[in-house]
Amino acid sequence: MEKIIIASDHGAFVLKDRIISFLKTKNCEIKDMGVYNEDSVDYPDIAGNTCREFMKGGYDFGILLCGTGIGMSIAANKIKGIRCALVHDLFTAEMARAHNNANFIAFGGRVKYSLAVTDMIEKFRNTKFEGGRHERRVAKIMGMEERCQSGLISPEK
Ligand code: RB5
Repeated sequence: MEKIIIASDHGAFVLKDRIISFLKTKNCEIKDMGVYNEDSVDYPDIAGNTCREFMKGGYDFGILLCGTGIGMSIAANKIKGIRCALVHDLFTAEMARAHNNANFIAFGGRVKYSLAVTDMIEKFRNTKFEGGRHERRVAKIMGMEERCQSGLISPEK
């Protein structure tokens, strides 16, 4: 069974509930990391907790939601091992998996998309990583992360 981890800040918990209901109809197992109401929280805390839980293993991918999806995606990409894509249509949903092998996708609860977020999630779910030259490029991204964490990449280099 596909296992998906999901979280939102106060700007998207309604969207989170909608996504969870949808994914349950697709027989996905869901780990819901909150939040559950409009009380204001700081999205970097939610992104950090969720990504660290993801990195323990056992999840197929994760979904992060905030007002725009921007803050969550920026924060998630600071966590080692995470490649979070901010998706806004079917094309970016497909490419996030096919070319970038994203392990998280982000959406905004306050964004007016031209199609349902669940359609974009379905596109992502039903797409496979193409590998090949994209494997090399993704490996380069992860190499940058390694070198950055070892202090080998400075703002000047
Ligand atoms: C919270 O007000 C808002 O800043 C947050 O949900 C998100 O949009 C940040 O990128």
